[in-house]
Amino acid sequence: MIMLDRYGRRIDYLRISVTDRCNLRCRYCMPETGVEDIGHSNVLSFEQILRVVKIASGMGIRKVRLTGGEPLVRKNIVWLIRQISRISKIKDIGLTTNGTLFAAMAEELQAAGLTRVNFSLDTLRQETFHYITRRGQLQDVLQAINKALRIGMAPVKINVVVMRGINDQEIPEFVKMAYDLPLQVRFIEFMPIGNLPFFQPRRLMTADAIRDIIDKDYDLYPDRASQSSGPAVCYRLRGGRGSVGFISPLSHRFCSDCSRLRLTADGQLRGCLFAKNEISLKMLLQNNASSEIIAALLQKTIWEKPAHHHFSTGWGEDNCRKMYQIGG
Ligand code: 5AD
Ligand code: SF4
Repeated sequence: MIMLDRYGRRIDYLRISVTDRCNLRCRYCMPETGVEDIGHSNVLSFEQILRVVKIASGMGIRKVRLTGGEPLVRKNIVWLIRQISRISKIKDIGLTTNGTLFAAMAEELQAAGLTRVNFSLDTLRQETFHYITRRGQLQDVLQAINKALRIGMAPVKINVVVMRGINDQEIPEFVKMAYDLPLQVRFIEFMPIGNLPFFQPRRLMTADAIRDIIDKDYDLYPDRASQSSGPAVCYRLRGGRGSVGFISPLSHRFCSDCSRLRLTADGQLRGCLFAKNEISLKMLLQNNASSEIIAALLQKTIWEKPAHHHFSTGWGEDNCRKMYQIGG
């Protein structure tokens, strides 16, 4: 079955936030004052998540990505991955992680069916790492990336949120990483999500500005193989092993080929990262609602998926849900 939304976009990708907790406190994601804990009973159980994935797979979902918070802080996450990989129509399971806990878990994650991993890493300097994340060790993340490459996870991607004055000096170092190693470094424009004071327009750097810096030292060329279906526009580096990508929600809208749906840790379905509307599945799942009802709500979410986001009319700011609550 193929699921189309009302703009003819094929929806085959479900991003699931398995927890809103995190062992880091990135300034652009979480408030200074710490986070409100939604409590265990408000987080979907693995059984509830599996139920949604099974129903969604019957409606055309083929790819799943686990996000957070930090997905690896959730207990028994390996078990969940194994169960999802047993759902026959799911062809691909990805993970977006901050990498701090990944190295020790890498083999079992892979054995359970994890195929691809994205690391969120904004700096290669310990001091800056500590400033941005407020805790955690850069070394753990670098080790995790090496481990992922060594055990043959593919693709391995690195998400870099570029913030002028914070890490823009490091753009060439990140590109060098993609030159030396078979991974993809994706530069993400800083987005105003969740009304956090750390987002300031002066820190914004457009993908074009990032590209200009890279063009000085490297020859980028478009490449079909590294161009995935996601929002990143990808290029190979001439002579290099890996690739670079640009995710530019603000300067170039990428919504026209968006294929995704989101499920938050507290059981809300979302058609768009930036939209204000969500549909709650939580209570229905708790009350053991029929699969027809769950399917109908998935359908409704897909139907109400906006044509594109509306940052310019303030969606980013007055959507008070923060990134760790939505799940990237
Ligand atoms: N702007 C851009 N990217 C962000 N991410 C989290 N918050 C923001 C923001 N305000 C990134 C994370 C992660 C990905 C899922 O989204 O760094 O890599
Ligand atoms: Fe944790 Fe990711 Fe948010 Fe950083 S951006 S605090 S790693 S959830």
